[in-house]
Amino acid sequence: MRDAKAPLVVFEGVDGSGKTTQLTLASGWLTALGLPHLTTREPGGTAVGEAIRKVVLSRDDLEMPAESELFLILAARAAFVRDVVRPALEEGTIVLADRFSLSTLAYQGYGRGLDLGDVRKAIDIATGGLEADLYIVLDVPIAEGRARQEHAGLGDDRIEREGAAFREAVRDGYLALRKTDKHVAVIDGRGTPDEVHARIRATIESRFPSVFGRG
Ligand SMILES: Nc1ncnc2c1ncn2[C@@H]1O[C@H](COP(=O)(O)OP(=O)(O)OP(=O)(O)O)[C@@H](O)[C@H]1O
Ligand SMILES: [Mg+2]
Repeated sequence: MRDAKAPLVVFEGVDGSGKTTQLTLASGWLTALGLPHLTTREPGGTAVGEAIRKVVLSRDDLEMPAESELFLILAARAAFVRDVVRPALEEGTIVLADRFSLSTLAYQGYGRGLDLGDVRKAIDIATGGLEADLYIVLDVPIAEGRARQEHAGLGDDRIEREGAAFREAVRDGYLALRKTDKHVAVIDGRGTPDEVHARIRATIESRFPSVFGRG
């Protein structure tokens, strides 16, 4: 197993659950601790990933089979892992990522209904077996995530345009994955950003005491 000194910590959850907000707060915390880290979001600046992302998220005129969506996302991930994540971890840099493989299981597996075993095999090819050390799933009621996004005036991307039933299936998927997958911590995403941050901090500290110290 990889040396857990520089873990890959992933922020997950439905749209509007607070991933980006909490990743930013966690990054500030690590900076205050003097811990070198990288915050990243797929496609993470890889040229092939940027090109693919436009097709998957921005081209809302494109109808595509769920399998096409799966392979496009994983095609971008393959470059992201090899060009961004692995090099950082290998040089001892902690990586805080906005979504990773758990999103693929929740959205393309539970949301789109693709066979979970098949999705897992495909993920494994894309990542070359690289797994997250901790997934922090921010759990909020669907309506709350939606309301936050609307309040912020954020438009939907191609996947977010799916209806409430899809979002519920994704949320339920995350809650099911907590039981079947390693390294998944579901955290109550309600309350103020600082309240949620405190929960995340406590979780990270207890999972990686030697890396993050206490307090
Ligand atoms: N705890 C909170 N309470 C109220 N509003 C919040 C909270 N956390 C984040 N927000 C606001 O909700 C909106 C969505 O938050 P954020 O962008 O962090 O979510 P996200 O999970 O990254 O969403 P997306 O999936 O669309 O990227 C933002 O406008 C943010 O300022
Ligand atoms: Mg975000």
